Amino acid sequence: MTRTVYVNGSYLPEDQASVSIFDRGFLMADGVYEVTSVLDGKLIDFAGHARRLQRSLSELDIENPLSDDEWLTIHRELVRLNDIDQGMIYLQVTRGAPGDRDFAFPDPAVTKPTVVLFTQNKPGLADTPMAQKGLKVISIEDIRWGRRDIKTVQLLYPSMGKMMAKKAGADDAWMTEDGFVTEGTSNNAYIVKGGRIITRHLGNEILHGITRAAVLKFAAEAQMEVEERSFTLAEAADADEAFITSASMFVMPVVELDGAAIGTGKPGPVATRLREIYLDESRKQAI
Ligand code: PDD
Repeated sequence: MTRTVYVNGSYLPEDQASVSIFDRGFLMADGVYEVTSVLDGKLIDFAGHARRLQRSLSELDIENPLSDDEWLTIHRELVRLNDIDQGMIYLQVTRGAPGDRDFAFPDPAVTKPTVVLFTQNKPGLADTPMAQKGLKVISIEDIRWGRRDIKTVQLLYPSMGKMMAKKAGADDAWMTEDGFVTEGTSNNAYIVKGGRIITRHLGNEILHGITRAAVLKFAAEAQMEVEERSFTLAEAADADEAFITSASMFVMPVVELDGAAIGTGKPGPVATRLREIYLDESRKQAI
């Protein structure tokens, strides 16, 4: 089945969809994105992703080209057209294609944002064996720009981080700045010590994960203790357990850091329980 994608108002077969070579997303990484997961054909935390999209666009002075209802309609239509049971919807908005290359932003009255959405079909997304195994991570220096709270398409360093991890025989990298862990290359990072869940506080240094917000809420409802503060690599190495969260991985245990086991070296009880709660609750609330 050929994938149907959405480009600037049209649903098209993927091989017929195109954007201009002058698009500022292509030339300057001048754009933002969202990834929303789909379980049982329904969208997980759509409202959270729509809110963060609005915030990312506002921070970059790009006008949101569509209303939340219009975004929702497109997401649902792509799920339907591509018959997605489990997977993801990728959404990207760029400042558009002014027809030439110029550092200055184009006049928004003339150049309209480019909108692209496509589905990624991932059967078994919620039941991946990785959740039983846990991830191995390495640590790398965080050399990204200072506005990581904006979900821009500048993903070169995170891609390089994944490749460094791969080369080291690991699954992902945790980035550190001034000795403290910021986040994973495409996820938020957590440790557990003495039953307490520790994850970095919000700020410009990390992406404000939609899964993070939901997981912290569920953790508090389950009477788990949560501390939002920076933690060091040494604390992570000495933790009882660790995990990450993201829209595509949900809650995923981390069992190894820089070649040494974290805790027992197996997925821990807190991460395992939070994964179950997160999947149950977000499935119930999916739309
Ligand atoms: N990544 N931190 C970074 C740097 C991310 O790229 C992501 C998401 C997260 C987690 O955010 P959320 O829970 O809202 O997915 C944290 C997406 C999944 C991606 O790039 O594919």
